[in-house]
Amino acid sequence: MLNEVNLLARLPRSRRNVNARAEAKSPEVIRISKQFGQEYFDGPREYGYGGYRYDGRWVPVAEDIVAHFGLKPGDRVLDVGCAKGFLVKDLMKVCPGLDVYGIDISEYAVTHCEPEVIGRLHVGSADRLPFPDGSFDCVLSINTIHNFDRDGVIRACREVQRVRKDNDRAFVQVDSYRDEEQRQLFLDWVLTAAFHDYPDKWVGLFKEAGYTGDYYWTIVE
Ligand SMILES: C[S@@+](CC[C@H](N)C(=O)[O-])C[C@H]1O[C@@H](n2cnc3c(N)ncnc32)[C@H](O)[C@@H]1O
Repeated sequence: MLNEVNLLARLPRSRRNVNARAEAKSPEVIRISKQFGQEYFDGPREYGYGGYRYDGRWVPVAEDIVAHFGLKPGDRVLDVGCAKGFLVKDLMKVCPGLDVYGIDISEYAVTHCEPEVIGRLHVGSADRLPFPDGSFDCVLSINTIHNFDRDGVIRACREVQRVRKDNDRAFVQVDSYRDEEQRQLFLDWVLTAAFHDYPDKWVGLFKEAGYTGDYYWTIVE
């Protein structure tokens, strides 16, 4: 219950040119990024990913998620903020028979998804999940809920908690920093996150929301 666990340990580090990002950033760039449209995923790097293409890098992460939660064929899993469904695809690849779904605010991402996940991804918001209580055996949300303000983060944590069966199988990863130097790097890099804080503050927020799953941090270094 509420454990810090690095489930993305085997995800290759993406190259970040923090100086170039900081120089290119403007209110207009941030406005466009926050639309989570074509520019954010597949436009120039200053708007976001600079090309979000499947390359199999989530396979080891999917293996670690399946092992950590003891997932088995027939279990239902939801990825909140699934983008184009790379993790949804790889969870089903490493555990055939796992029933995996995704939801994302981005119509662009969902309509440019991997062919293997067509029909498994929904457009919707993390703070209003369109599923009944207890729908999933496991709920994941990676680098997504920090896009809300503090109240929205709490709503999103409660939604993760609500749509999950009565167990602690959930994982949330969010933007954070462990010292002032990391915080400054993060502030230069960040485009879309509306709420971010030190790990102990995040843990306090999780407790306030009643979230009982696992968690970890994305830190710009
Ligand atoms: C940094 S990307 C992370 C994508 C993927 N989870 C990963 O880790 O590669 C953030 C994702 O959150 C989605 N997103 C932003 N606000 C959201 C919301 N309110 N509800 C659901 N998804 C949202 C964006 O469209 C985008 O796909």
